[in-house]
Amino acid sequence: MNAPESPSDTCLVTGASSGIGLAICNELLATTTLSVLAVSRGAQSCDALDQLSARFPGRLSALNCDLCSDSHRQALGENIAAGNLVRVINCAGLLHDHDRALWPEKRIEDVTAEGLHSLFSVNAYMPILLARDMLALMPKDRPCLFASLSARVGSIGDNGLGGWYAYRAAKAAQNQLLKTFAIEMGRRRPNLCVLMLHPGTTDTPLSAPFQKNVSKEKLFPAHRVARALLGLMDAATPGDSGRFLAWDGQDIPW
Ligand SMILES: NC(=O)c1ccc[n+]([C@@H]2O[C@H](COP(=O)([O-])OP(=O)(O)OC[C@H]3O[C@@H](n4cnc5c(N)ncnc54)[C@H](OP(=O)(O)O)[C@@H]3O)[C@@H](O)[C@H]2O)c1
Repeated sequence: MNAPESPSDTCLVTGASSGIGLAICNELLATTTLSVLAVSRGAQSCDALDQLSARFPGRLSALNCDLCSDSHRQALGENIAAGNLVRVINCAGLLHDHDRALWPEKRIEDVTAEGLHSLFSVNAYMPILLARDMLALMPKDRPCLFASLSARVGSIGDNGLGGWYAYRAAKAAQNQLLKTFAIEMGRRRPNLCVLMLHPGTTDTPLSAPFQKNVSKEKLFPAHRVARALLGLMDAATPGDSGRFLAWDGQDIPW
């Protein structure tokens, strides 16, 4: 999806206040001419986004938005001119919360309705609702992209370890929902490419509590992951729509 850009072309990056989303904003500003709309619940009070905005004047707008809220997603759409949204990169995700009320389950006894609901809201329902709500803003007549961060642990075929019930299942549900979206768009919007992407284990607040058994070579810095993922997005064509890809371009089994 390496089409020529005009300055009014916009890339929406969600999860922009932290980790991979923040690194993607940085990389997009440094290597493209796109306008970047950086979104998360706390984007407008994020110092790192403020600094990026100062380094790239007029290129970055930050917007507070709880993407699980219908009214917030609607308000988000009002900030984008129809036809200008050439890329959506959904990096918002949830594995645990700060006070550990939400924590990946090790045993069946740890599974709760609240945990399933919270993880499904952010990792499964939100991406497809975001796709639904952003579609009308994306161009029909030229290449455009909807990419969403999934996770290898969402692969049912690759599940050899168990555990992490809600996160695994929510990412698997995201994959099924976005694969279905990709198939429909293949008929209705042949210029749109839909990708599900696994970043690899990346050094961010999301993975921080689980890094102690990860070797140094397998724990990637966010800036490196951002480059790898944007490389995949640049190379993707509508013919790649519906693929579930790892950071190195390998297909991941469903
Ligand atoms: N890090 C890894 O090793 C790894 C591995 C596999 C997959 N992933 C996936 O990659 C994606 C990015 O992960 P990360 O490691 O960069 O995570 P992170 O550092 O924890 O960032 C998550 C982002 O999501 C935003 N967010 C969460 N809930 C939201 C909501 N309801 N509305 C709007 N924004 C929301 C957070 O911002 P606010 O708190 O300001 O809303 C934050 O910007 C996630 O989907 C994750 O599952 C990560």
